[in-house]
Parts: sequence; C-alpha cells; structure tokens
Amino acid sequence: MSLDLLVKNATLPDGRTRIDIACRDGRIVAVEPGIEAEAGRVVEAGGHLVSPPFVDSHFHMDATLSLGLPRMNESGTLLEGIALWGELKPLLTVEAVVERALAYCDLAVSQGLLAIRSHVDVCDDRLTGVEALLEVKRKVAPYLDLQLVAFPQDGLFRSPTAERNLLRALDMGVDVVGGIPHFERTMDDGARSVRRLCEIAAERGLMVDLHCDESDDPMSRHIETLAYEAQRLGLQGRATGSHLTSMHSMDNYYVSKLLPLIAEAGVSAIANPLINITIQGRHDTYPKRRGQTRVPELRAHGVTVAFGHDCVMDPWYSMGSGDMLEVASMGTHVAQMMSRDDMRYAFDCVTAHPARILGLEGYGLAPGCNADFVLLQAADRIEAIRLRARRLAVVRRGRVIAESAPALSRLSLEGRPEMIDPAAYAPAAGRAQG
Ligand code: FE2
Repeated sequence: MSLDLLVKNATLPDGRTRIDIACRDGRIVAVEPGIEAEAGRVVEAGGHLVSPPFVDSHFHMDATLSLGLPRMNESGTLLEGIALWGELKPLLTVEAVVERALAYCDLAVSQGLLAIRSHVDVCDDRLTGVEALLEVKRKVAPYLDLQLVAFPQDGLFRSPTAERNLLRALDMGVDVVGGIPHFERTMDDGARSVRRLCEIAAERGLMVDLHCDESDDPMSRHIETLAYEAQRLGLQGRATGSHLTSMHSMDNYYVSKLLPLIAEAGVSAIANPLINITIQGRHDTYPKRRGQTRVPELRAHGVTVAFGHDCVMDPWYSMGSGDMLEVASMGTHVAQMMSRDDMRYAFDCVTAHPARILGLEGYGLAPGCNADFVLLQAADRIEAIRLRARRLAVVRRGRVIAESAPALSRLSLEGRPEMIDPAAYAPAAGRAQG
C-alpha cells in the first residue's frame, strides 16, 4: 500500500493512543496501531494529540483586521460597534476586504482552523462584502471551507433595502440566511423578521443562523420564535441561534420551558465567549453579568452547542488571533465548566459540534473521512485547551499545509533542567483519559 502521508504514534481525541493514520488521495484510509507502508511523507506525532481541524461556526470576515478604521470603539458596546461599522461600510472596497480576509485565512490555517462560517453584511446596496467574500471563498477553497451567511446587520425591516439585498446575496451564492431580530425597531418587528427569514430558508432549502437576542434584556425572546418557526417549517437541524446572551439574564422558570422547546425544534446554539464576556453587562455597575448563554443547561437538554470566535481586530473586538483554543478556554471559564468531562466538551465545541452545525461532509478521523487534521503539542483535549497548544502540523487533504516549531523554553538555573516542554507537565493522577 503506497500512501501520500502516514502519521505515526498519535493520540486521538477519544483517548486512543499509539495510533497511526494513513492517508491517500486526500482521504484517510486507515486509523490503527502499527501501520507499516511506504508513504510520500511520514509525520512522527510523538504521542501528541491529533484532532480533526478546528471549525469556527460564527465569524465576521468582512470586518476582520479593520481595527481603527475609521476610528476606535471608545465605549466598547455592541451599539457603538454597529455605528462604527456603519461609518466604515461606505469606505470599503472589494480589494481591501479581500486582502484582509485572505490575511485572516492565512492566520486561521496556521492555527489549524480549516472551516469558518462567516456572516457577511448585506446592508450595503453595493454588496461589497458579499462580492469580496465570494471571491475569497473561491480562492481559499483548496485549503479552507468558507461558508457565508447573508446578514442584514442594520435589520431586515429597519433597513429599507435589506430584504432585497439579502435575496440578491443568496442569488449570488451566499449559503445561509442570517438576521438580527433584536436590532429591529420593536419586539414585534423582531419576531416578524424571524418568521420571514425562516420562510426564506425553507423556500430555498437553506440553513438559517440568526444573531438572536444579543443583549442583556431578559425579555428578548426571539429564540422562542426561532424554535417555533423551525419546527413549523421543518427546519430541524438546519436552524441556529447565535449568541443567545439574553438567556443569561432570563427568569429561570421561563428558561425551564424554553430549553425543551429549543431541543424539540432541533435548533443549535452558538456562544461567542470572547465577545459575550466583553460586550455584555456593559450597562451593569456591579455585579456585572457575564452574558454568555446557558451552555451546560443547553447541553443537558441535548442541544448542539458550539463556541465561535465572532470577531478579530474589528469594530467590536480589538483582540483575537484565530485561535479556537483561546475561544474554548474562555467558554469553559465563563460557563464554569471545569470538570474533566466539561473541558473535553469545550474542545468539542470548537471541533465536532460546529462541524455538525455547518453540515461539513467527510469531517472526522475515521477511514473514508477527508484527510484533514491538526497535530497539537498536547497529550489530550484538556491539555490542548490549557496550553493553547502549538499546532505542530496542519494537514489538508493529506498534505501538510502549515507547521510550527514546538514551544520549548531554555532555562539558565543551577540544578534545574536546561530545557522545559510545557506539554510535558502531566496531571499528577496521570493522563490518557482523552
Ligand atoms: Fe456576530
């Protein structure tokens, strides 16, 4: 058997160790111990974790890396961010958006992030962002799956040309229907927008992913309407509520009724931990609410939950680096999900769960799957998050497309080791528990 790539001695996310992964013609052909075969390239994993690639289910690639254009967000609020983006929009050019997006995709690939769902603002009659990101999607297709959401940032009904532009964007090839019901003029308009957007998705056989209830208002309940419309229109498994931060502030009794409705309707949930923790609670003095949606409770009801990055260096967020392990780390901290099982779940919230939400085909580490994965300088999923582990190798369709040197530090201390490897610090009780 002649292979294109053979990975030796990997640990898998499910805890299996000393596994070899054989790849041919862009696919995984075998995952088992002790594979002996000729291969164009052999990667020695050294017992480190090999995971399917990171997936970001919620991003804004039309805005990324625009930090400071035309000015900074002084208040740090969502609403100033939207206003600032409104100032920048008329100044955007297709060329500049393409250049910034491609630069971000380079960064993403270096971090093992090989699939991104990006919202693209359609409240610009020129559809600059749509044109640019469709071009980017074509350009990056060999190494990154980019899924686009038609996002009426200024409100489907609040912005006079939003619906027409949204339909134009879908006609041009944008994949998913987006929305922002909490930004419409009234609760009623918000609910109407959810209904209309779900109908568009149902008519066209598309998925729908709404920015839903991104506020601290406990009465913002568009997720209830989204769940209702998803079950009414048969969108189970194709509908997603992004952010859902109002759930953080809702009355507990109401949430106890809401969670089963979300589960019943097959609606997925995406929290954006880095953004939620910085943008929500801005009108609080003390105590300040965290704002992140109720992740453990959604999980307990069987809802698919993912963590998104949302923003990197844009009008809403000055930081970020395309590192989904940083996202997972923040998510698990904010949700106080610190059991071993919880932390493994947080890793899945930036890998397997968003892959399911995006509907990625051939995702995973089984024979027959795409030969896409990342070798991390960590022993398991928990250590990967704890260390924000270095991506030693990133593989796409059986080819190594990015590599990083291991993180090692040289010490000059008498009687102490000369070199330390952060991944070599095992929990006292041992590891190999996935
Ligand atoms: Fe967003």
